[in-house]
Amino acid sequence: MCIYAQNLLNLVNKKMNSSTHTRKSRIIIRRMENKDIPEIVELQKIAFPYMAAEGVYWRPDQLESHLKIFPEGQFVAEYNGKIVGSCSSLIIQLKSEYEPHTWKDACGDSFFKNHNPSGDSLYGADVSAHPDYRRLGVATKLYDARKTLAIELNLRRIIAGARLFNYCEHAQEFSPLEYVQMVKRHKIKEPVLSFQIRNGFKFIKILPNYMKDPRSLNNATFIEWKNPHFVEK
Ligand SMILES: CC(C)(COP(=O)(O)OP(=O)(O)OC[C@H]1O[C@@H](n2cnc3c(N)ncnc32)[C@H](O)[C@@H]1OP(=O)(O)O)[C@@H](O)C(=O)NCCC(=O)NCCS
Repeated sequence: MCIYAQNLLNLVNKKMNSSTHTRKSRIIIRRMENKDIPEIVELQKIAFPYMAAEGVYWRPDQLESHLKIFPEGQFVAEYNGKIVGSCSSLIIQLKSEYEPHTWKDACGDSFFKNHNPSGDSLYGADVSAHPDYRRLGVATKLYDARKTLAIELNLRRIIAGARLFNYCEHAQEFSPLEYVQMVKRHKIKEPVLSFQIRNGFKFIKILPNYMKDPRSLNNATFIEWKNPHFVEK
């Protein structure tokens, strides 16, 4: 990461740590390092239990590849020396603005082989917070680091596929789109999409068959955050 980006990240941490002295205030966001990999793999298994049961979570060789290809895009959240959250990102260029895609397509077969430094979009491959540290702002801080990076790299936007975590409980009653409308009206509790909306992301459309996931029945939402500082060149 260049000095400017590191300074911005320091500012994010400083700003977030200056207001109170709660447990939340001691969460530090930093760049992921190779030595963190075993802890991140364990965190993934705990944070994504349903997908872990399907064998879908980052393997050490995949995380190593992310760090080799795009180290600036990989972050962890640390509390008292323990990793309590992480997020992985890459830069891509979709064929069209809102091209339907799968998680595997977007993440270059999980290795970020498709990372394109000339692309226009930072792609959020995942975000997770340890279950014991949820609703404390961990993932919001990770997202702030991602936004800072998108601004620093002058990327047009951040996009991702947000899995509809509680859809399996409502699939008899609602289509995925109806379900999203219920979530947006606060009629249904949905941790993942609610988190994304709270963090300024806009729901674009449903991505069916996004990934093998028993919770969402493979449904995700195409979400987008437009970089307000983006300068066309
Ligand atoms: C989604 C997830 C990353 C959120 O992490 P987090 O650190 O708890 O999120 P934050 O504390 O930053 O939450 C910020 C806001 O998002 C919303 N939110 C977060 N979790 C929510 C939930 N369970 N229900 C409803 N809203 C929720 C709230 O508006 C929250 O603000 P509030 O606590 O002041 O009400 C976390 O639940 C998680 O790790 N889930 C499992 C992994 C996963 O599915 N990741 C996403 C797909 S890759």
